[in-house]
Amino acid sequence: MKEEHFFYINNILHYKISNNESLSFDFLKGRLFNRLKKIEHESLIKKAIGKNKVKLKIFDATAGSLIDSIIFLKLGHRVVACEHSKILYRLLDDAILRAKKEYDFFENLTFVNLDSAKIIDNHKDSDIFYFDPMFKDIKQNVKRSGTLQKIGNILDLEKLEDTSIQIFDQLLKNKYKKIIVKRPIKSNPLNEKINYQVKGRAIRYDIYVKT
Ligand SMILES: C[S@@+](CC[C@H](N)C(=O)[O-])C[C@H]1O[C@@H](n2cnc3c(N)ncnc32)[C@H](O)[C@@H]1O
Repeated sequence: MKEEHFFYINNILHYKISNNESLSFDFLKGRLFNRLKKIEHESLIKKAIGKNKVKLKIFDATAGSLIDSIIFLKLGHRVVACEHSKILYRLLDDAILRAKKEYDFFENLTFVNLDSAKIIDNHKDSDIFYFDPMFKDIKQNVKRSGTLQKIGNILDLEKLEDTSIQIFDQLLKNKYKKIIVKRPIKSNPLNEKINYQVKGRAIRYDIYVKT
C-alpha cells in the first residue's frame, strides 16, 4: 500500500491502482447507491437468508465492497464484516463515514480489517456465516462487475490471496447454524454436505445447515 496513492476527489477517498485505474466507494450516489435503492429486487439473497422476523447476527467473511453486507443491514440484521485488504478497508471506511449521516443501519455494522480466520471463532454464535470468494475465472469476475476486477487488482498489489474457501472448509467441521456461499451458477458446490441452493441467472447461493 502506497500512502501517496490515496487521494480525494469531491471529498471521496480514492486509491490509484495504476496510471489509468483508481477505486473509490460511494453509497450515496452511483452504481452502489442504485443497487441499494432497489433492495426489494434482491429476492435471491432474501430467499437464501430465509424468512425471519427476528434480527439475525450475520458474519460476512468476505466483505469486499460491502454490498452484500449492506443488503443484510437493510433487511434489518446485524453484521460483522471482515476484510483483510488494508486499501479496501480505508476506502470503505471513508464511504461508511459519509453514508452514516444518511443511513441509520450502519449502527448495526461492525467492520473489521483482519483475516477472517483470526476472528471467526469469536463469532461462533452467528446465525449465518456468509462467504463470497473471488471467482478464479477472470471472465466470471468481469461478468459480475468492474469493481470486482479492481478489487482483484488491489489484492494483487497487496499480495493477498483469497483464503475464504479454506476458512469455509474449517468452519464446516465445527459448529454453525447456517452457511451461505455465493457461487457462479455453473460451478460445483464447494462441499458435498450442501443442503440446498437458491439459483439466479449468473450466480447462486449454496446453503449448508446444521441442526
Ligand atoms: C468477491 S469479494 C466479496 C464481494 C462482496 N460480497 C460484496 O458484496 O462486494 C471477496 C472479498 O473477500 C476478501 N477476502 C478473501 N479472503 C479473506 C479473508 N481470509 N479474510 C478477510 N477477507 C477476505 C477479499 O479481499 C475480497 O475483498
